[in-house]
Amino acid sequence: MQIHDLEFKIFLSAAQIQDRVQSIGAALTTQYEDKNPLFISILSGAFVFASDLIRSFNAPCEVGFVKLSSYKGTRSSGDVQTVMGLEKDLEGRHLIVVEDIVDTGRTLHFFLEHLRSQNPASVCTVALLCKPDALQFEVPIDYIGFEIPDEFVVGYGLDYDGLGRNLPDLLVKSEE
Ligand code: IMP
Repeated sequence: MQIHDLEFKIFLSAAQIQDRVQSIGAALTTQYEDKNPLFISILSGAFVFASDLIRSFNAPCEVGFVKLSSYKGTRSSGDVQTVMGLEKDLEGRHLIVVEDIVDTGRTLHFFLEHLRSQNPASVCTVALLCKPDALQFEVPIDYIGFEIPDEFVVGYGLDYDGLGRNLPDLLVKSEE
């Protein structure tokens, strides 16, 4: 499939993703059953994953969103900015941070520092995807959906310059 100037092929099917999301949701339910956790979804990329994950969480919870961005095209710009902040009081709360993909780890590193300064009771991190070969920052990730090679992916909420977020499968850039 062509998106803008690049060719992509299927990497993970919607069914494979759903299986993994359900099992993470079940593990989180066991861990947070009586804690009323606050899921914090990092926009924009995590919105699809977060919406499936919270519906696989079978206990009371709240949901918040924060918009951060560090990406331009297919490369990290190196500059993380909070574009839209959280309005909730985080003190004493059990937080579950939901990220679509950890690439260099810069976004999560920056955001976790911000969260810790607000005295939450606990912070758990969940990433659908992680590129271990691209990591430059040490970030604790408690639940990883899939470890993937250091290649550009799109779909299931992730975009390539605005396109592809609506695709139900995860696609990877094909070799030229
Ligand atoms: P990091 O700060 O370098 O870890 O980058 C994290 C953010 O970059 C993610 O939340 C995504 O929005 C974006 N990103 C990283 N890798 C990809 C990719 O392969 N496709 C689409 N977006 C990506």
